[in-house]
Amino acid sequence: MIPRKKLIAGNWKMNKTPADGVALVRELVATVGKQSEVEVVVCPPFTGIESAGRALEGSTLKLGAQNMHFEASGAFTGEVSAPMLRAIFATHVILGHSERRTLFGETDEQVNKKVLAALKNQLRPIFCVGETLAERESGATLKVVQTQIERGLEGVAKDQAASVVVAYEPVWAIGTGKVATTEQAQEVHAFIRELLTKLFTEPVAQKVRILYGGSMKPANAPELLAQKDIDGGLIGGASLEARSFVELVTAAAAIK
Ligand code: 13P
Repeated sequence: MIPRKKLIAGNWKMNKTPADGVALVRELVATVGKQSEVEVVVCPPFTGIESAGRALEGSTLKLGAQNMHFEASGAFTGEVSAPMLRAIFATHVILGHSERRTLFGETDEQVNKKVLAALKNQLRPIFCVGETLAERESGATLKVVQTQIERGLEGVAKDQAASVVVAYEPVWAIGTGKVATTEQAQEVHAFIRELLTKLFTEPVAQKVRILYGGSMKPANAPELLAQKDIDGGLIGGASLEARSFVELVTAAAAIK
């Protein structure tokens, strides 16, 4: 079996001007921009994607967006589309982040349309799922994640499913400093892989990267990344500084 390459993606959220982003990318290029053991993706806000993309040219770093609309063009004020992201050389797009779902009312149906549109345009979706604290406490975690995955990936063809990256982000762990225990995370990751096996066959499910997100930091990353079904991280806070982000890349590279 081909081992899955670890993936570390930085979700900058609504942080950094284009100039700040370029400065961060330059530091990343200088430190981890030549290695190819770990796939590294940076996801700046829309205003900084193009300049970050120019700054990482010629390195192994990849470029992602944090959201997009599912239509290619039209009267959708404030939105950007998959072809627009492709035109500035983005390769990845975060879709269905819990902040989009809870603060901006994104539904599973909308996220599904976005996943399909991303794949159609050769953008790799980093498709986010995860339960709230109330859902975990009521024992509904696996059910919630199952529904989000079944609805979000509806209509994805078997031969495209391996390009999807799934990010498990327990909502209660995002930006709170409360990281899931390795057991809690591995349990959900294994469940997701099993579900992907049912939906897309075993060989496909073995290829899909499943990232953990939620207060991942250099101190807790080695243990999380060593779990069988944890193939990388989607990093918020710790992606905003070169030092911590590089440490996460190094931690991922150290797992054999
Ligand atoms: P934090 O790493 O800041 O908890 O954010 C996680 C996240 O939401 C990444 O998408």
